[in-house]
Amino acid sequence: MRLDELARGAGAVLEGDPDAEIKGIAYDSRRVSPGDLFVAVQGLRVDGQNYIAEAVAKGAAAVAVEPSVKVSAGIAVLRMPSTRIGLAELSAEFYGRPSRHLKLAGVTGTDGKTTVTHMAEHVLQTSGVVAGAMSTVSFTISGREVDNVSGQTTNEAPEVQAWLARMVEAGAECAVIETTSHALVQERVRACEFDVAAFTNVGRDHLDYHATWDDYLEAKARLIDLTADAADKGVEKTAVLNRDDLSYERLSRRPIARRWTYGMTTASDLHPLDLAITGAGSRFRMKTPQGETEVTLNVPARFNIYNALCAAGVCLALGVPVEDVGRGLAGFEGVRGRLEPVDLGQDFRVYIDFAHAAGSLASALAELRPFTRERLIAVFGSTARSDHDRPGMGRAAAEFSDFFIITTDDPLSEDPVEIARDVQAGAIGKEPGRDFEVVIDRRAAIRRAIEIARPGDTVLLAGKGHERSMRTARGSEPWDERAEAETAIRDRLGQGTLSP
Ligand SMILES: Nc1ncnc2c1ncn2[C@@H]1O[C@H](COP(=O)(O)OP(=O)(O)OP(=O)(O)O)[C@@H](O)[C@H]1O
Ligand SMILES: [Mg+2]
Repeated sequence: MRLDELARGAGAVLEGDPDAEIKGIAYDSRRVSPGDLFVAVQGLRVDGQNYIAEAVAKGAAAVAVEPSVKVSAGIAVLRMPSTRIGLAELSAEFYGRPSRHLKLAGVTGTDGKTTVTHMAEHVLQTSGVVAGAMSTVSFTISGREVDNVSGQTTNEAPEVQAWLARMVEAGAECAVIETTSHALVQERVRACEFDVAAFTNVGRDHLDYHATWDDYLEAKARLIDLTADAADKGVEKTAVLNRDDLSYERLSRRPIARRWTYGMTTASDLHPLDLAITGAGSRFRMKTPQGETEVTLNVPARFNIYNALCAAGVCLALGVPVEDVGRGLAGFEGVRGRLEPVDLGQDFRVYIDFAHAAGSLASALAELRPFTRERLIAVFGSTARSDHDRPGMGRAAAEFSDFFIITTDDPLSEDPVEIARDVQAGAIGKEPGRDFEVVIDRRAAIRRAIEIARPGDTVLLAGKGHERSMRTARGSEPWDERAEAETAIRDRLGQGTLSP
């Protein structure tokens, strides 16, 4: 793309060669390829200004900087008031403003973003809409999935725009993107033309980055503003809000064309009627602004009813008929690694969950309790990160499970035995052997849990979720929690200790 076209489209002032041909957008000088436009963003990784020389040495065709930055002669320069916003605008422009060519929903909140994103994507796909999604777990287009191994839920603007462009190319009509508050603050989705802004809950987590609850809420609320201001694609701009959440009061004051609320009571636009908890999930009639539909959810936990209502709001706003929403939700089997069932016909339940902190371990166990006839067995460990409350995990397991196995989870260079000891310290009043065991080798720990499970029990394998590696002192080794669980179950089934 010609530099002058790019500058015009993104609202930048061009100094230098207008004919320069731009081959890509880079914000990390280490990853500049010849012909790229290097966008010097303040504080994205480090201060981009300091890396202009390196980017030029690597063949950057031009650089984008803020007005006060001096650039030595010899290279074309784009000046923009904010290169953070600029990075988003330039990326969108470079990839042909893809979000103008599909209907786009953003999902934000503290918990449940990934689940709602993939639920909505699933409903869209099953209703015959070609859809794409981006989440913590994966990028999908038309049901084809690529693991998100970036370690970032919402990628930087060039990656976001590149994926949207790939979706458009593949014929996608709709896309759903998981949007973190970091991403909103850092303008990574700035040039995304949203049609729907969906909110799960807004808890009081993540306050290390956002100084106060108000700031945090404010960051998330920007998704509504972005949506209200985005290009018109014939979809009424809609905010889908959790009426039962503390955030509702504030979020509902943000101006937008249409506001749909969801919650457990009839005060919400979307709510369940005749709710019944079933063995694997729940069943209810869903009231919506566009009629009613029968819903069978095959994912456990009460919060998944909220997630389903939220996803339903997103899909209805994007134009999916109400009866297709019910049908689509019924076929949703959960997100990889989020209370993901492993069912090989054994007579106890096994779930894999990403919970790797005291609070999330406690809530995952609490959510599984109503679905568990007999004992609830947990397998988990604490990671090496020093900010994790290790005794807290022990306490959570002691309080919310009937039996637990302390094992290893990404110990990095720390001694897993020491970590397990820290975890165990929280399990006050619990006796080794009777109430819990310590099995350091995770594979052996999983096998042990499967071995001791009896009919009606539930085994929760917590911590690894969708992750594909185990990080130890030896480096990163491949890990697949589901494969481990399946092998253990198969071996036990094969030994004839239970009927399949
Ligand atoms: N609506 C909800 N309310 C409360 N907790 C939830 C909700 N949905 C999911 N959870 C819990 O949070 C965990 C993570 O769910 P999910 O991955 O969908 O959330 P997320 O917002 O994408 O999280 P992350 O910040 O890690 O990307 C689930 O396994 C479950 O324990
Ligand atoms: Mg997520």
